[in-house]
Amino acid sequence: MSVEDLYPVDRVRHMPFFYYPTVNTDTDPLIEESRAAFAEGLARRDAGGRKAILYLHVPFCRTHCSFCFYNINVVQEDDPVMRAYADAILREMQYYGAQAYARGLSIEHVFIGGGTPTRLPDAQLRRVLQGLRDHFDLSRVEDFTIEMNLETMTPSNLEICHELGVNRVSFGWQTSVPRLRKFLALVPSEETLADRLSDLERLGYPVIWDIMYALPSQTTEDWQYDLDRSIELGVACVDIHRTDLVPPAPLYHLVREGKLQLPSQAEALAQYRQAYRSLIDAGYEFNTFQQFNRADVPSAVSHYGRYYYRSSHDMLALGPGAMGITCDWAYMNERDIAAYAEKANAGGPVWSCAHHVSDETWQERDFVLGLGQLWSVPKSLLRAPLTPQQETSLEKLIVHGALLDTPDEYRLSDDAIGYHFSIAGEFQTQQEIGRNVGYLRSMPTEIVWNSSRKRKRATP
Ligand SMILES: C[S@@+](CC[C@H](N)C(=O)[O-])C[C@H]1O[C@@H](n2cnc3c(N)ncnc32)[C@H](O)[C@@H]1O
Ligand code: SF4
Repeated sequence: MSVEDLYPVDRVRHMPFFYYPTVNTDTDPLIEESRAAFAEGLARRDAGGRKAILYLHVPFCRTHCSFCFYNINVVQEDDPVMRAYADAILREMQYYGAQAYARGLSIEHVFIGGGTPTRLPDAQLRRVLQGLRDHFDLSRVEDFTIEMNLETMTPSNLEICHELGVNRVSFGWQTSVPRLRKFLALVPSEETLADRLSDLERLGYPVIWDIMYALPSQTTEDWQYDLDRSIELGVACVDIHRTDLVPPAPLYHLVREGKLQLPSQAEALAQYRQAYRSLIDAGYEFNTFQQFNRADVPSAVSHYGRYYYRSSHDMLALGPGAMGITCDWAYMNERDIAAYAEKANAGGPVWSCAHHVSDETWQERDFVLGLGQLWSVPKSLLRAPLTPQQETSLEKLIVHGALLDTPDEYRLSDDAIGYHFSIAGEFQTQQEIGRNVGYLRSMPTEIVWNSSRKRKRATP
């Protein structure tokens, strides 16, 4: 009995679990009762130094990259919406900064993501970064990351980030293969890359980049070239992203019209394993399923990226559309910038939906995100007795050699590399599958077609 018996390679699951449990306007719209209970918890409960990660979402970009499925807003450099956004997020910070629970959190890892945070004009970027320092205690922060891209990274915004405590800068390079760069219409040139790398080096920032696999027509050799280039350049943290051309990615229409084909599941799995082997053999260490770090550059490790997936930490998420889990509530903020700003400027919370998270759900989360993204679940985190589903799944996975049961943790075996999302899916309950479907259904209209496709797949 082997892992392949459980999950034939052509059916291995690749959809990552990022938010768990999801929360959505379809199944968890914010009603007065939940708003009041969540707000009351924040105002009265003592977090008692509970560890936390903090996420801040900036939903703007200069252009919409051909492949990108993120729900972003393309804005001109001088668009007043960015000032309105900064005003609103400062009000949101002020709201949390005044809550007993948020004040009692020990924030240790920060991530400013998007979109492209450096699309913000320098003055607004400075206000947002300064606002974090003014409203939260950042004295225990270890890693503080900001996402940039090469077109919006400038000496001046790098200086601002450096001055205000950012110690990790990550950007998407995607591929070095000229044919694929042309196909994806990637703008930055090799010269731009070289210039930005020297700007980063001048400030002592390690190189942290995203590259993509399972691209249309990308061969094993193309992918090896990108992995080798990362290794040769000494990239300290390599984030590997599996391509998914779904709405609102501009290239999606070619997929819908049958003009573009992505690699099969089996091919993508082979490319994933190729990356894992190449990076580990070159001395990189596993941080998450998609993030590998050079062992000799510990400052490039995103601990945020790990604790995102553990019940040991709350996640305070700020900004339009951000999803967090704090004070035992999972929530999503208003996605629409105008609606978000209206609520923020009224001085109250900016949630559009929320649901209470029980110990049982935190435990389910530990199994799903722990096994999916980190390939392990520490037993010390488990808060409730194992459910019949958890017991059956553990037994099945252990018998098939997919999981190891050690005194301290459940851990994926080497044979299970690449099967992590299939394994994680075993621990997803029907209730959370339903909530995930609700999440897809609550996405903006341009994503609806994809949601109905997913709905069919997700229905048992
Ligand atoms: C949210 S973006 C933010 C980073 C920044 N805006 C940039 O472009 O460098 C993070 C990464 O997601 C990845 N990504 C975007 N669209 C994707 C897609 N359709 N499939 C897989 N990965 C994708 C890219 O590697 C990108 O660098
Ligand atoms: S890849 Fe980055 S820069 Fe490009 S559209 Fe997506 S978030 Fe924006």
